[in-house]
Amino acid sequence: MTDGWSIVESGFDVETNRAYEGLFTLGSGYLHVRGSLEEHLLQAPQNQEYVRMPANVTAEVFPDNKAKWGTYVPGVFGRHPWLNSEMVNLPWFLGLAPYVNGGKLDLEVANVRDHRRELDLRAAVLRRSVTWDTAAGAILHVTYEWFVSAARKHLCVQRMVVRTDRDVTVSVASLLDTDVRTNGHEHFTKVGMSHTGDPERPDLQAVVTTDTGDTVTVFSRVLAPQATWELDAGSRAGTLTGAFDLLPGQSLVVEKRTAVTTSRDLAPVEPSALLDSLSDLTYDDLLAEHTAVWASRWDAADVVIEGDARSQLAMRCSIYHLLRCHVPDDPRVAIDAKGAAGEAYFGRYFWDTEMNLLPFFLYTHPDKARTLADFRIETLDGARQNARGYGYPGARYAWESDARGIESCASWQYRDHEIHVTADIAYALAHYARATVDPAYLDGPAAELLVETARYWMARLSWRKGEDHPSLLGVMGPDEYCPISHNNSYTNRLVAHALKLASEHGQHGGASDEERTAFAKAAAGLPILRDPARKLVLQCEDFELLAEPDFDRTWTDRSKGYANNVSQERLYRTKALKQADVLMLMMLFPQEFSDEEVAAAWEYYLPYTTHDSSLSPGVHAILAARRLGKTDEAWAFWQDSAFMDLDGGAEQGIHIAGCGNNWQVAVFGFAGMSSAMHTDTLTLKPHLPPAWERLAFPIIWRGTPVYVDIVKGKARITNRGTAAIDASVAGERKTVPAGETAEFETR
Ligand code: BGC
Repeated sequence: MTDGWSIVESGFDVETNRAYEGLFTLGSGYLHVRGSLEEHLLQAPQNQEYVRMPANVTAEVFPDNKAKWGTYVPGVFGRHPWLNSEMVNLPWFLGLAPYVNGGKLDLEVANVRDHRRELDLRAAVLRRSVTWDTAAGAILHVTYEWFVSAARKHLCVQRMVVRTDRDVTVSVASLLDTDVRTNGHEHFTKVGMSHTGDPERPDLQAVVTTDTGDTVTVFSRVLAPQATWELDAGSRAGTLTGAFDLLPGQSLVVEKRTAVTTSRDLAPVEPSALLDSLSDLTYDDLLAEHTAVWASRWDAADVVIEGDARSQLAMRCSIYHLLRCHVPDDPRVAIDAKGAAGEAYFGRYFWDTEMNLLPFFLYTHPDKARTLADFRIETLDGARQNARGYGYPGARYAWESDARGIESCASWQYRDHEIHVTADIAYALAHYARATVDPAYLDGPAAELLVETARYWMARLSWRKGEDHPSLLGVMGPDEYCPISHNNSYTNRLVAHALKLASEHGQHGGASDEERTAFAKAAAGLPILRDPARKLVLQCEDFELLAEPDFDRTWTDRSKGYANNVSQERLYRTKALKQADVLMLMMLFPQEFSDEEVAAAWEYYLPYTTHDSSLSPGVHAILAARRLGKTDEAWAFWQDSAFMDLDGGAEQGIHIAGCGNNWQVAVFGFAGMSSAMHTDTLTLKPHLPPAWERLAFPIIWRGTPVYVDIVKGKARITNRGTAAIDASVAGERKTVPAGETAEFETR
């Protein structure tokens, strides 16, 4: 076990290499790099072309390879011939490998005594150490350390230190390779490799142009003792090799600095000039400014868990990736479903942004939440285009959005039917306005979006013969295994909420009084289906008509998700649920459902729920902890959610929505905090898991920074702001003056 801040890989297993590459992704928001081995592995080509088809990603089997390089700048999208827009995997620049007598360090082939890697979450630094018994007889001890600078978002800094037990000549090869693919596809229409031609100046540059016309420049410079560098450059890759004589007791220190820039940059910089401007700064200087930024991020967001080291590490791992993924000061992008750490979801933006990710930022870094909210406003034209494409007025947000807001989902089931995302966005904007006490947001920047999406909804509603209320027909709710359903309760409630917002704020977004009245009327009429006898909220009109899934017979391989066991049609014709649907609704609108209804929904839907989506366990954990007092279940679902990436699930990228959920489980679930959507008073109802002795975290409650500290039987709220706040803990209400701490009994 670690100190709660380090994820450690001891030894090396090629089978888990790709999962560690994903888990160890470093990034500045702007630039992200998977944690691949600097010397790479033999026979793990990165230019393999293969055909990826539209599919259910949850059940998709990805091509096997020992390693998967990934360099991503969110917003740099390319066009795939049938999968639409995808975030492009950019040239790989991490390559930095020692050779002795032509023999290369390779974790599978070379005689390696020990290998250790450690992601230091606090500093956002990846460290490695390897002891290598070279064929030449010398034992080399090699350490690597690198980071993507939080202080200078274009910059990645690597340092390799080599020590020896006897005299040896060590060659060092620095690689820059553009011969990479994204999901097996080539997105570069032009590639240019260049170098100074000066053997004393080990610089390499690659300029690539994507098939959508973006240009990306990657410029690497090696800093090392005096050497003559030999260049081996082809049209797609370049290697610079320098040789160094090393004596026992000496350290060979080689640094590699890389700057990545793109033609999309808001403040263009020239990468070589950027590196030139850093020539007076040492590795330690650059590291210090980087860790200082991370220290302030952690001050605003760290969740302390005492009594359970594994949960502590999982929580920090989630927060680390959330903080890494946010692109500072750039509302032209959001956070993609794999957290810029893999290509499975094409680098696209889903409802995950609004429902799973936004809350963490809203309550810890409202400025970062703002860019996520603004992203949808920035892409309103894309949403208008989507609506037109479907023959509707107004704006329809994409189920899978690219950076322009254009629908990029290649599977019709989700693309055509999973329309709730448009209403989730309105909910999120309202959440932003409430949590940051910025009501003017809805009357100002968000008003047009509210009106345009309401216009889409008005056209998307059906008025069936003989009924006096509107319906939403042919939708897919959050449960993706119920593809074309009618009056899905979740969707209806969220759409009614969006229409109501448009009726209240629409005059500022161009809606006439008549339109606003119609919005309000439709909002009031959209049904939430209930079976009063069973106190059951129905997922949709058709749910009861579906067949029983018979999991005992059909879910034979329990090590895999249900979707990997059965065909898609069986998912669709049975009551098997992919993820929380009615329960998600109850989490978002807790006051609208009685305790009996929540309990009935839990009892009814849970046995059908496969949790094939990583978004599901967190929602269940929150409801179990806060609403239902089901401590054991809350704990079990927390375990399912918390360790997804830590326990080997990050091959295709980070389950970033799950990371957002993990934070929500701690704060909304175990601390039982009510959302600012529903109350002005900081309200907590703590239910710590038996193993947890303490749960403590900072939060910004409607503009006031607060520190919440919960131990068994007690909670303390410290007001770090300048005005008093009202707080309620376990039913006891107090005013907490600025600068003071109030203590509450929680038993
Ligand atoms: C889930 C969706 C989610 C998407 C991206 C799917 O498997 O069912 O709810 O938005 O993954 O995370």
